[in-house]
Amino acid sequence: MRSTITSCSLLWAAVATVVLSQEDRSRLPPVKALALQKAISKKALSTKAHELEDIAYSTPDRNRVMSSEGHNLTVDWITGYLDQLRDYYTYEVQPFIALYSESNGSLEVAGEVIESVVFEYSPSAEVEEEIIAVDNLGCEASDYPDAVADSIALISRGECEFGLKSALAGAAGALAAIIYNNEQGAITGGTLGEPPRPEGDYVGTVGIAKADGLSILSVLEGGGSVTGTVVTESDIRNVTTFNVIAETIAGDHSNVLALGAHSDSVFAGPGINDDGSGTIGILEAAIQLSNYSTNNAVRFCWWSGEEFGLLGSTHYVETLNDTAGELDKIKLYLNFDMIASPNYIFATFDGDGSKYNLTGPPGSAEVETFYRKWFKSRGYNITATAFDGRSDYQAFADNGIPCGGLFTGADETKTRLLYEKFGGEQGEICDPNYHTALDNYDNLNFDAFVPMEKALVASVAEYATSFGSLPEAKKARARGVEDGKIMRRALADESFVMKGHTKLWRA
Ligand SMILES: *[C@@H]1O[C@H](CO)[C@@H](O)[C@H](O)[C@H]1NC(C)=O
Ligand SMILES: *[C@@H]1O[C@H](CO)[C@@H](O)[C@H](O)[C@H]1NC(C)=O
Ligand SMILES: *[C@@H]1O[C@H](CO)[C@@H](O)[C@H](O)[C@H]1NC(C)=O
Ligand SMILES: *[C@@H]1O[C@H](CO)[C@@H](O)[C@H](O)[C@H]1NC(C)=O
Ligand SMILES: *[C@@H]1O[C@H](CO)[C@@H](O)[C@H](O)[C@H]1NC(C)=O
Ligand SMILES: *[C@@H]1O[C@H](CO)[C@@H](O)[C@H](O)[C@H]1NC(C)=O
Ligand SMILES: *[C@@H]1O[C@H](CO)[C@@H](O)[C@H](O)[C@H]1NC(C)=O
Ligand SMILES: [Zn+2]
Repeated sequence: MRSTITSCSLLWAAVATVVLSQEDRSRLPPVKALALQKAISKKALSTKAHELEDIAYSTPDRNRVMSSEGHNLTVDWITGYLDQLRDYYTYEVQPFIALYSESNGSLEVAGEVIESVVFEYSPSAEVEEEIIAVDNLGCEASDYPDAVADSIALISRGECEFGLKSALAGAAGALAAIIYNNEQGAITGGTLGEPPRPEGDYVGTVGIAKADGLSILSVLEGGGSVTGTVVTESDIRNVTTFNVIAETIAGDHSNVLALGAHSDSVFAGPGINDDGSGTIGILEAAIQLSNYSTNNAVRFCWWSGEEFGLLGSTHYVETLNDTAGELDKIKLYLNFDMIASPNYIFATFDGDGSKYNLTGPPGSAEVETFYRKWFKSRGYNITATAFDGRSDYQAFADNGIPCGGLFTGADETKTRLLYEKFGGEQGEICDPNYHTALDNYDNLNFDAFVPMEKALVASVAEYATSFGSLPEAKKARARGVEDGKIMRRALADESFVMKGHTKLWRA
């Protein structure tokens, strides 16, 4: 998939109209944290959040999903602001090809709707047939009785991947498959894995709760017959989508501070906290920084395809020219994904690994310390969030680049301890609108957004001036690469994949 990219390189649009002369730029005052913080207003954040919501709601799908009209317009909206800063930044719109997939569907058993999830990469199907139980766990071709042909296969979760079960069901002639959980409750989300598979073609596959599976099974085992209706609809295709990368014209381009946020949303809604807040956060920082000079170059990155599995940031890092030392030039990557959650916590990445035992590459600990001090010195509490591979820092960490950033919480519960530190609603998740249609302007929390933004620009001022406080980061990247790999290994539970922030079970 990545190798097709060179054919697109003609599409790279670079804007480099320099209005301010080099001399003009060097006359700008050096950036200072306090000045940048003072320049942050709730109004500027709020206006942009409205604009982003308007973009989503102006489109039929009312979202900003990768390659949708809403996302394409988001890219135009970002570059529209950057066009006004052409004397200070150059920018690139980086196209890349990404696998888009959407699926939905339903299940009826004996005329009754059963709650189900459609597995990612499930093909479209519309089948009304008898349900036939598969032997054992359906991991061997021999588990599939002849009767499964032209019927719906009922299979237990367990032992092997959902994808293998779906493919074996297909190979046995089944028209659809139902996989029931092997532990209490529903299967929360799953993937068959990107096709093709050697064992056969997938069939439309849905997942259901254990209790529902067992009740069908008990009828079948009692000699009865059960009819099911499986409907799945899928849209799986390669699309072209865009990252936006802006960099200060001035500053040392061999010593780069990179900041990132993802510009795409999920299907369900406009994504104004996830990650409109980070998108706006780094955009506003870019705007305010343009009144100052910096020693280091500062690069602002808006990633696409985060919600499909960190696609944009991964593509960007993978296609940087390592021979030309492009990776070594990035001294620090800061990530901002959800910084205005309604039931917020103030969190920074656990760079030193003290809380989650997932230590970032050398230098990450010092970045954690920087943010901790910033919040504490202003009388705020601060907590740590894990480098759990759920956002765009991962590709940088894999390459040993120090990472850090800020986060106000997604689907994690506000425990009593967090409630005591940050107030809000104890026992509720930090963003009750996470990945829903209600992740909109009205549900942003500016009591979180404004301080987070001030901390964000404070870190821009700090590291745009000097990386001197990251002594560890100066040492061989090789060691850092090892740390990034340890993080990834610790996360490499083969039983699931992360799609953006969403955990999809593989088995
Ligand atoms: C997407 O592109 C990749 C690489 O070119 C190709 O292997 C794959 O089959 C394509 N997938 C679809 C669904 O078109
Ligand atoms: C968004 O842009 C891509 C790349 O140009 C294009 O293929 C796609 O059709 C656009 N989306 C819509 C909904 O117009
Ligand atoms: C279901 O998926 C299909 C294919 O992507 C899409 O056209 C349709 O709008 C979806 N339906 C719902 C209710 O989301
Ligand atoms: C830069 O400073 C000027 C004068 O102090 C002010 O008018 C302008 O709004 C500032 N620009 C930004 C982007 O803040
Ligand atoms: C990467 O950089 C090296 C050294 O500067 C150069 O020779 C090579 O052509 C570059 N590769 C690409 C794909 O641009
Ligand atoms: C921390 O993780 C390492 C592996 O990365 C492991 O060896 C060690 O036992 C863990 N420590 C704790 C306290 O869990
Ligand atoms: C910080 O947390 C402590 C409890 O750990 C709490 O007593 C204090 O009020 C909190 N401070 C703020 C500003 O919320
Ligand atoms: Zn996000």
